[in-house]
Amino acid sequence: MTKNRASMAKLTDRNEGDGLRGVILGIESSCDDTAAAVLVNGVLRANVIAGQEVHAAWGGVVPELASRAHQEHIIPVVDQALRESGVSMEDIDAIAVTKGPGLMGALLVGTCFARSMAQALDVPIIGVDHVKAHSLAHFVPRADGSKAPATPFLNLTVSGGHSLLVDVRSSSELVALGSTLDDAAGEAFDKGAKLLGLPYPGGPLIDALAEKGDLDKYVLPRVSLPGLDLSFSGTKTAFRELVASVRQHGEDALVEELPHLAAALQASIVDQLTRKVVTAMERTGHSRVGLAGGVSMNSGLRERMMELASEKGWELLLLPPALCTDNAAMIAVAGGLLWQAGKVDGLDLAPQARIPQ
Ligand code: KG4
Ligand code: ZN
Repeated sequence: MTKNRASMAKLTDRNEGDGLRGVILGIESSCDDTAAAVLVNGVLRANVIAGQEVHAAWGGVVPELASRAHQEHIIPVVDQALRESGVSMEDIDAIAVTKGPGLMGALLVGTCFARSMAQALDVPIIGVDHVKAHSLAHFVPRADGSKAPATPFLNLTVSGGHSLLVDVRSSSELVALGSTLDDAAGEAFDKGAKLLGLPYPGGPLIDALAEKGDLDKYVLPRVSLPGLDLSFSGTKTAFRELVASVRQHGEDALVEELPHLAAALQASIVDQLTRKVVTAMERTGHSRVGLAGGVSMNSGLRERMMELASEKGWELLLLPPALCTDNAAMIAVAGGLLWQAGKVDGLDLAPQARIPQ
C-alpha cells in the first residue's frame, strides 16, 4: 500500500505543536496493558489503554493469558486510537513499538503487529526500550499546553517491573545510575498485598489502606545498600514475618490490623526510594527530579517527594495517572525522538525480554 500523501499533507499542514513533526503511531504490549497512541505534529491526539482483569484472581500477571489478551485487544485498541485522533492508516508516517524489556509472548504480539503494519504502509518502524520510555513520559505533550521539562533532571522510574534512577541529561541521553538488585518497588507492594490476602495489583490497595493506618504501630527495617542500588527482598521477608505474627491472633485480628500493616509496608518502601533520590540528587547536582511508572502514583511517595522538594528547593516533575502506568504515548514520544535522530529499525525488529540499562 502506498501512502496517501494528500491526506498526510492535510494533517501536517496544521502545524499544531512545537514538538515532533509528522504522524506517529505508538504501540505498547510489554506486560498486561495493550495500548496505542497517536501523536500528530507533537500533539497527543489519542492515548488508548486496554487493561487485563484476567490476572486479578492469579495474584500476578500470567504470561500466557497476557499474550492471548493482547491478541484480542490489539486491533480494537489501534483502531480506537486512529478513530479518536481523526487519523487514517494512510496518514501514519512512522510506527513506534515497545521492543522490550517485558514478557516475550506479550512483546511478540505488539512487535509482529507493528512490523506487519509498517510493511503494509511502507513506513519506518522504531523499536523502543520500555524502561527508557517511562523516563521520557515527561516529554509527552500535555493537553494544557505546558512545556516539556528543562533538562537535565533525575528520574525515579518505579513500576511493577523496574526501580531505576536515571540521569536524564537530555531527551536523547539517559544514563542509569542505580536500580533494584531483586524485586521492583511495584513487586514489593504487590507481594506484600498478596501476603495480606489482597488481589493483584495490590499497590493501589496498599496505598488506600495505608491512608487510614497508624505509621507508628509497626516499623519495618530499612535496607540500605551502599551506592544507588536498591533491594526490597529484606523488606519482603520482614513483612512476611510481621504478617505471620499478627495472623497468630486470628484472621479477624489481621483484618483489623490491615491499615497499620499497609502503612508500615508503604513507609518502608517510600523511605528506601526517597533516600536514594536524595543521594542521587546530591551526586548529580541536579535541581529537578521526576517520578514515573505505576508506583509513582503512590500517595505516600508523592507526599514525601513534595516535602523533600520544598525543603531542598527542587522542581518536582509529576505525571498524570495515564502517563504513570504503562501507556503508548510515552512509546510514541520515545520512538519519535529516535526517528528524528535517524535511528530506525528494519522489518526484522525482534522483541527482547531483557535489555540491560
Ligand atoms: O508502570 P506500571 O503500570 O507497569 C509496569 O511497567 O510494571 O506499574 C504497575 C505497578 C504495579 O506493581 C502496581 O501495584 C503499582 O504499579 N501501583 C502502585 C500504585 N498504583 C499502581 N503501587 C503503589 N501505590 C499506588 N498507588
Ligand atoms: Zn512499565
